[in-house]
Amino acid sequence: MILPYLNPSLPTQQRIDDLVERMTLDEKIGQLNQIFATPESEERDKEMIRQGQVGSRILAFSAHAGNDETEADAYTPLWEFQRIAVEESRLGIPLIFGRDVIHGHLTVYPIPLAQAASWDIELVEAAAKATASEAVSDFVHWTFAPMLDIARDPRWGRVIEGSGEDPYLCSQMAKAQIRGFQGEDTSAPGSMVACAKHFVGYGAVEGGRDYNTIEVTENTLRNTYLPPFKAAVDAGVGTIMCAFNDWNGIPCSANGYLLNTILRNEWGFDGYVISDWDSIKGMVEHGSVEDAAVAGQHAIQAGVDMEMPGHCFATHLRQQVAEGTVSEATVDQAVRRILRIKFMAGLFEEPFVKVRKQQPKGLKSEHRQLARKLAAESMVLLKNNEDALPLANDDNCTICLIGPLIHARRELLGNWTLDGRPEDTVTIAEGLAQLRPDLKIAPADAAVDAQIRLARKSDQVILVVGEDHFRNGENANIADITLPAGQAQLIDAIHAIGKPIILVVCSGRPLVLTDIEPKVDAILWAWHPGSEGGNAIADILSGNVNPSGKLPITFPRATGQIPIYYNYKNTCRPVDDYYGEDSRYQDQVGKPMYRFGFGLSYTHFEYSNFTLDRSQMLTDECITASIQIKNTGKASGFEVVQCYLRDVVASTIRPVRELKGFQRIHLKSGESKTVQFSFSESDLAFYGADNQQRTEPGEFQLWIGPDSSATIGGKFYFKQSKDSNIATERQACLNPDPSFC
Ligand code: GLC
Repeated sequence: MILPYLNPSLPTQQRIDDLVERMTLDEKIGQLNQIFATPESEERDKEMIRQGQVGSRILAFSAHAGNDETEADAYTPLWEFQRIAVEESRLGIPLIFGRDVIHGHLTVYPIPLAQAASWDIELVEAAAKATASEAVSDFVHWTFAPMLDIARDPRWGRVIEGSGEDPYLCSQMAKAQIRGFQGEDTSAPGSMVACAKHFVGYGAVEGGRDYNTIEVTENTLRNTYLPPFKAAVDAGVGTIMCAFNDWNGIPCSANGYLLNTILRNEWGFDGYVISDWDSIKGMVEHGSVEDAAVAGQHAIQAGVDMEMPGHCFATHLRQQVAEGTVSEATVDQAVRRILRIKFMAGLFEEPFVKVRKQQPKGLKSEHRQLARKLAAESMVLLKNNEDALPLANDDNCTICLIGPLIHARRELLGNWTLDGRPEDTVTIAEGLAQLRPDLKIAPADAAVDAQIRLARKSDQVILVVGEDHFRNGENANIADITLPAGQAQLIDAIHAIGKPIILVVCSGRPLVLTDIEPKVDAILWAWHPGSEGGNAIADILSGNVNPSGKLPITFPRATGQIPIYYNYKNTCRPVDDYYGEDSRYQDQVGKPMYRFGFGLSYTHFEYSNFTLDRSQMLTDECITASIQIKNTGKASGFEVVQCYLRDVVASTIRPVRELKGFQRIHLKSGESKTVQFSFSESDLAFYGADNQQRTEPGEFQLWIGPDSSATIGGKFYFKQSKDSNIATERQACLNPDPSFC
């Protein structure tokens, strides 16, 4: 007779109850324990698994998986580990294998910040789905992605890993990636459990210094940093990873207000929370606990369910339950959450993934096509003087390709690439040679002088510069966001000989181009574009693909402007358009180099005929804005139409504008389309001084345009009911109980 917990026809809750009932305390604590395995620890690990003391294994050798080239080997011996867990442990609870599959597996897609620049929700979802199908066939059940940290500081190395500065765009990207990774049914073949990280506020580390403290009010946390995680929970994300940083003086690894009050009680999250690598013991370093035992106690009582390598739970929980400092009910609660996800992932029915016997040669062509398309869509055309791009097809015009990254492979894959193979990467030289065999391409061993001589003999220069894959990423922060050493000088040298420059920048973060911009005719921001980066860049430069990327993060003019972001709160001494000309710097203007949402095309789009279907919106109504967009240029192309809202007066100061909708539309030359955005009361909601979600009556402004400088729009009034008086309603809102302030 099959035991209830092994019977897939029974409800999950019943299976969980039956299994927990059968587990010893040691076996329960084992489920909370994630190990990393090395060849040296293999026998010890197997015995721990046999004793039911392991719930999960992270497929990484170290806490620096993203910055460690040896991580590709962290796979052995998965089958044997799982076999022991399922066949030799007393209850046969399968292990869940987790890995940082951040933006691709064998096929590497653009870094997440680049994917956000595509604003193509469907394509981002498709890339995550394709990634899951590859990772699952390497026995990966669970990815530590998507990273949802709102980032306004490009000095921070991990800005590459998220979706930029805007809560709405980041929320859409979160949902797309989670749908892609988990599918409709996470137990289905090719799906894997996702993990929204790092909960919460990690992108606000002071000075852009990774692991640093953050100073974020609860009001800002709720209106800016939490929304993407709420979107992830609403999208059914299976797990959440808590952040290294503290919030309000309490480390996120033991912050019950975040993990229990908000995440579980307010949002109803029913998956499990995993710590970050050793972040529980890290609280001893924080100075919030005396020792590892107390750290573990605080963490599990605050709502952390599984410990990423660290050993606080495995070492101390047994004793703490025995002496009553941690109740067994608390341990049971964590175990139940973990088992729920293991059942959801189908691990009890399919503990063994049909693992491919060896790594396939090369990449699947459909994945390559997907990577090429997403990379091209993520690239942002920042400048294009006199239509310098697309490249002319003129026999009398000699074009050369030079720069430190034209033959790069690993660098194009970007950081947090553990399984992508450089040999599968298409270099920029290869991509361009394929589409434009006429180009004069500097050989890989060409010294700078030789590259300059090649430029002298050419009529136009494609110059590729940028970062390598370890100049950003975890704890890869820079204090001055300029190009790597020597690259500005190379640009100067080519400029000095009077050659028109097409600048291509491969980078994981915004970089300052203020002094460079006047010296070049065109700038294509290619990010770290992944396995098909060379082909995608060639597609754009040749005109095969019309660029449509839009910046998901503001590009400063100077490091000293940081933090600079478009959705800032107004002040008592307002300036317009970011920080305006009156920027309050004596040595710099206030505007950024490139604003959020900005990106050029090879064609031009004209916005006209803006309408609002009403001037007043009541509680149970919707308001619809519409606008006509016409492609007035010669090339067909995509335009990301963006809609921004402003709540002009509210009981807590609201941003000067916030992205509330976007649509990516295709228009042939001469074609027009009408785009509509509809909003209901919930779209106007924000968290007030009492940290409760609310909407308040009054004036709202709305703009639609090609980027965050959108000027075409109108205003409308929102009020609770037809015959209510806005002034009276406002008064009620404007005087919240002073104790909240
Ligand atoms: C790292 C990162 C986290 C990653 C984990 C496992 O320290 O903070 O994002 O998933 O450890 O590699």
